[in-house]
Amino acid sequence: MFTSLPGFREFYPEERALQNHFFDLWRRAARRFGFHEWDAPVLEPLELFTEKSGEEIVRQLFNFEDKGGRQVTLRPEMTPSLARLVAARAGSLRRPIKWFAIGENYRYEKQQKGRLRAFYQFNADILGEPGPAADAEIIALCIEALRVFGLTAADFRVRLSDRTLWFLFLESLGVPESAAVPVLAVVDKLERSGPAELLKMMTDALAGTDCAPATVLEKVRAFVALDSLEKLEAFFGGAAEKITARLADWKTLLGTLEAMGLADFISLDLTIVRGLAYYTGFVFEAFERSGDGRALAGGGRYDALVKKLGGPDMPAVGFGMGDVTLKNLLDAKGLLPVYADGPDFYAVILDAAARPEALADVALLRQAGFRVEYSFKEGKFGKLIQAAEQTGARYALIYGPDEVAAGVVKVRDTKARQEAAVPRGELLARLQAVQEEGIGAAE
Ligand code: HAM
Repeated sequence: MFTSLPGFREFYPEERALQNHFFDLWRRAARRFGFHEWDAPVLEPLELFTEKSGEEIVRQLFNFEDKGGRQVTLRPEMTPSLARLVAARAGSLRRPIKWFAIGENYRYEKQQKGRLRAFYQFNADILGEPGPAADAEIIALCIEALRVFGLTAADFRVRLSDRTLWFLFLESLGVPESAAVPVLAVVDKLERSGPAELLKMMTDALAGTDCAPATVLEKVRAFVALDSLEKLEAFFGGAAEKITARLADWKTLLGTLEAMGLADFISLDLTIVRGLAYYTGFVFEAFERSGDGRALAGGGRYDALVKKLGGPDMPAVGFGMGDVTLKNLLDAKGLLPVYADGPDFYAVILDAAARPEALADVALLRQAGFRVEYSFKEGKFGKLIQAAEQTGARYALIYGPDEVAAGVVKVRDTKARQEAAVPRGELLARLQAVQEEGIGAAE
């Protein structure tokens, strides 16, 4: 037997229906916030990611040379493509640009719980607005895109951090700019690595600088322990102007989220620095409340990316939310919907002579927008009714010799097991009423 590649999923109809349910809810949330949908190719020039996404993602690329000798890769994320699209039309797009996308991404990762090699991601981004109002709107949509599934503040948290503040803090420690990104890569591992390993990584990150790795590590630990704006203000009390100005942005962002009624969903957590290289300001990740499991979503501000791709200066902020961890969480919370994908009506054809009438009615009902199935073969009543029930259809339409002779169709409620005879000429109107009011409307 052939099998699919490791980390790639197949979707049987039940699973695909669930997937569509995810896409529907994400779309609805994005539209309510006034976002417009976009898309881009899944195969992209390799360079788009080697230059822009950072080392970790580059190690995970599904890249190859195509038959024309081009270096290409399946997309590991959608943000560089978005930045390219926006850069190409920056002059004519009305700002702020509020766009969302749902697409499959590919990363050659080790397959584990919450991590696959092909996964779907819901992306939402605002471009053209530099202030924290846009960060707040993006975080609010990220929260909404989880709430639409029935998740509450008891189930998940958005952990909020800030690369701008990190860079200012590292600068205050004397860490040169060139070492700041490598140091943040160590911070990213803080929760998952032992002390000896961290010291080794910090020593590597600070190689060629005058900084003492053990001291920087100690200061970093003290910094990440600050979990409120008050503590941050006390920590930096009377510090440089740039830091004071940045704390004012924090106040605006937290105040805006509070005004939106979202304070319960947010925690200040400086351990979040994000693995992707392009982030420049506020960054965040959504996690299950207990902190267990992989991130449900991640994002932040990336003000330099559009320009790097040949566009104008264009501030940007956004997030990506994956379907894999979300599904695991919804499953654990009992929030996955039951698969229900049956037709509205199922025509039970008992007799070959009744088939032309039945097929004419099936066509009429389908034209009217109903979902209708019918039996391909004639057979015994009990067997065909069972087949109708198995499709999940609420109503069976029965066509036998008696019904044809009387010019009627029997409409049967497959759950209540009640029937009503309806003249064929009135079928469509009566069924429209039945859909709304139940079988009583047929009588
Ligand atoms: P990311 O943090 O790499 O960000 O991915 C966002 C989310 O995608 C993760 O939180 C996770 O739910 C899901 N995800 C990532 N990798 C995998 C995987 N191998 N298997 C299953 N799920 C995965 C980005 O991709 C940024 N481009 C998001 C963004 C948009 N930033 C600004 N705009």
